[in-house]
Order: sequence, then structure tokens, then C-alpha cells
Amino acid sequence: MAEYEDNIRVLYSEEEVDRRIRELGAQISRDYAGKSVNLIGILKGASFFMCELAKRITVPVYIDFMSVSSYGSGTESSGVVKINKDLDRPVEGLDVIIVEDIVDSGRTLSYLTKFLNNRGAKSLRVATLLDKPARRVVEMIPDYRGFEIPDEFVVGYGMDYDQKYRNLPFIGVVETE
Ligand code: IMP
Ligand code: MG
Repeated sequence: MAEYEDNIRVLYSEEEVDRRIRELGAQISRDYAGKSVNLIGILKGASFFMCELAKRITVPVYIDFMSVSSYGSGTESSGVVKINKDLDRPVEGLDVIIVEDIVDSGRTLSYLTKFLNNRGAKSLRVATLLDKPARRVVEMIPDYRGFEIPDEFVVGYGMDYDQKYRNLPFIGVVETE
């Protein structure tokens, strides 16, 4: 890991993440048996998880993306959710799963679940790769989650620190010391 200026400790290896996503995919496939599932990925962080999850689901999958911003360039949520890119296809009458990289304060997802419910989704669930429940400000209980993690700032597998490290194939913690 000599190419970056920060020290990054591996929290979940590529193999561990892969194994867990396969389990989530199997669980979703069972839960949605006989239906189609519409995955809505939240750019950019969730894009890596979204692709891997979609590949592990065996019922028909449709994908769409939204881009919202709730963060500046630091590590604290601003509490303001702004929609930068809306859906391409209406969700009315569809079984939807919002796919996120990480739930932190819960603000982004509580906003998005209301937003998509108002748009008339037939059902709405949340899948997140990571969950930091210790940081919750508004209630948000994900239906599917990869790992519950302590209050540490993580990068990799789509997640960034100041737009860096999204491409790391594992989940790591930026050591601040
Ligand atoms: P929330 O609205 O506070 O739940 O924030 C969720 C968003 O904050 C996620 O979609 C991430 O983009 C970002 N975020 C929260 N915690 C982390 C982290 O530890 N690393 C990278 N991004 C994070
Ligand atoms: Mg995000």
C-alpha cells in the first residue's frame, strides 16, 4: 500500500467482503422469489457493492442509480441531502431495494426512503454494505447489511476519504493517530 499517503489498516479483506455479499445475494434471492427486484444504488460509494450484489441475486434484477450529497469533503454529515441525479425510471409499483455503502447518521437513507415511498414504490427495503449504528442520529434499521462496524472512518470498496481510495478492493480504516 505504498502508493497512498495515509496508513490504511485492513478491516475486511476482499475475500471476506465477497463471501458476505454472496450471502446477502442468496438471502435477497430467497426473499424475492417469484418477483423482480429493482436495485437503486446511491452514487458513488455504493457502486462497487451494487455490482457485486446484483451479480449474486438470482431473481430478475433491474438497476438504477441516484446521486445525492450529504457530505462535504470532511468526515461529518451536514444533515442536508441534495439530489444531484434522479432516477431514470419511475419506481411506482416496483419492489425496490436502496443500495448504500454505509449507514452513518442515517440521514441520507431516512430521506431517501421517504422520497421513494412518496414516489409510490410497492415495497421498499434498504441494503447496506456497512452499518455504523453508534453514529445514528435518525432512526434507520437496514433490512440487509454486510457488516456492523464500530465508529471508525472506512475507505475502499467504493468508499472514499476526500475522493481517494474508492478503488481499494478491501475495506480499510484510515489511521489518523
Ligand atoms: P449518513 O447520511 O450520515 O448516514 O451518511 C451516509 C453517507 O456518508 C454514506 O453514503 C457515505 O457516503 C458517507 N460515509 C459515512 N461514513 C463513512 C465512512 O466511514 N467512510 C466513507 N464514507 C462514509
Ligand atoms: Mg454515500
